[in-house]
Amino acid sequence: MPTPNRIPIQITPEKPQPLQRHHTARYYAHRVRESLATRVSKTICIGFLSILLVLGIVAFILWLSLRPHRPRFHIHEFSVPGLDQATGFENAQITFNVTARNSNQHIGINYYSMEAMVYYRDQQVGSIHLKDPFYQEPKTTTVLDATLSGATLTVSSRRWEEFLNDRGKGKIGFRLDIKSVVRFKVSTWDFHRHTMHATCDVVVGPNGYILPTSKDKRCLLGLLALCLWLSLRPRNPTITVVELSLPPGDNRTSVTDDGNNNGTLYYNLEIDNQNKDSNIYFDDILVTFYNGQDRAAVDRISAFTLGKGKTQRMAARDLSVDGRVWKALRNAILNATAEVKVGVVTGLRYKTWGIKSKHQGVHLQGTGKIGKDGKLIGKKKKIKLKHASKKWRVKASHIHN
Ligand SMILES: *[C@@H]1O[C@H](CO)[C@@H](O)[C@H](O)[C@H]1NC(C)=O
Ligand SMILES: *[C@@H]1O[C@H](CO)[C@@H](O)[C@H](O)[C@H]1NC(C)=O
Ligand SMILES: *[C@@H]1O[C@H](CO)[C@@H](O)[C@H](O)[C@H]1NC(C)=O
Ligand SMILES: *[C@@H]1O[C@H](CO)[C@@H](O)[C@H](O)[C@H]1NC(C)=O
Repeated sequence: MPTPNRIPIQITPEKPQPLQRHHTARYYAHRVRESLATRVSKTICIGFLSILLVLGIVAFILWLSLRPHRPRFHIHEFSVPGLDQATGFENAQITFNVTARNSNQHIGINYYSMEAMVYYRDQQVGSIHLKDPFYQEPKTTTVLDATLSGATLTVSSRRWEEFLNDRGKGKIGFRLDIKSVVRFKVSTWDFHRHTMHATCDVVVGPNGYILPTSKDKRCLLGLLALCLWLSLRPRNPTITVVELSLPPGDNRTSVTDDGNNNGTLYYNLEIDNQNKDSNIYFDDILVTFYNGQDRAAVDRISAFTLGKGKTQRMAARDLSVDGRVWKALRNAILNATAEVKVGVVTGLRYKTWGIKSKHQGVHLQGTGKIGKDGKLIGKKKKIKLKHASKKWRVKASHIHN
């Protein structure tokens, strides 16, 4: 044994113990029992894993057999009669016949409302509401046919000339897009919704009827829930104050202005929905004008719906500006240093392909400089409202609640 006062190097290490040992019978009995226990636990483990594997295979087979197949679209007919007439666009018609096949054994498909769009050189020349929501049984085919004419068709004489020009070359290419939202259904179990987009390229001959090369052709199908959702995701409406006027009135009265005289504010609001596929349902819109931190005037526009791709300009509105604020604001206007802040608070929902989105809040703000004449300064004479900062939102909600 080493003692503290000895130098460690001098220690000769003990030789490793030989492995052979003298074991008792009790030790061997213990070893046997131990290996029995490991073998049992191993067997249980293997059994358990096997069951898992079998369950996995069963689930995989079930998934394979139940896996929803996307519907298949084929175009059978497509015609533009009257193509041989120079003035044919006046009563132009486009007729098509497409079939949608649900090839699934057990899975039905719920279609939400379905729309069809016809494109010529990537320009939309017509669109039509094809079907209200419907359910398609497994192993069935649905015929989707329609005739576009009049209001559903937007063919100008120029476009018709382009048709005729192509016709002279022997063929005219069109694209038929069918859009819907689908949901697969197994007995009572509904899957997620997917946005569906079938694209049928079609070529018609000089007689206006589909060429054999296009007939009964399968249409391309986009059924990418996420990607399409992203591309179809509604865009925020743009809200703009297009005319803002705070007439300062006569110079002379300003001298005696005691803060009891209210001012008047005229403005116009333009709301633009750029979404081709979504209507927007607006809540009441609260419009507040500020001079610095002071609230000058408040307006409330009643809830309304803005259609797809529409722009709405509210009728000109006039508001009373609080006398105390007006005094300061008017002085600033006459001094050409006035700046008016506009805050818009509302809420909205989008309705895309028959489906309403979640309700969402909208807080916008913008600032405009006012000239001596009480009108907006700047080239565009408008205030485009942008998303409000958080700080402002807190303030606005505080004011409006
Ligand atoms: C549309 O095409 C399908 C399949 O070819 C056919 O069964 C159906 O009768 C057609 N419908 C019309 C209106 O032409
Ligand atoms: C107001 O007063 C300014 C000078 O202080 C003058 O230039 C301007 O023409 C006046 N405007 C009106 C409408 O009287
Ligand atoms: C002035 O404005 C205030 C609030 O903006 C309003 O309550 C009041 O009735 C107005 N007075 C007149 C005379 O218009
Ligand atoms: C008028 O504008 C000048 C600067 O352009 C500023 O110094 C002055 O304080 C302003 N007066 C008022 C009453 O706003």
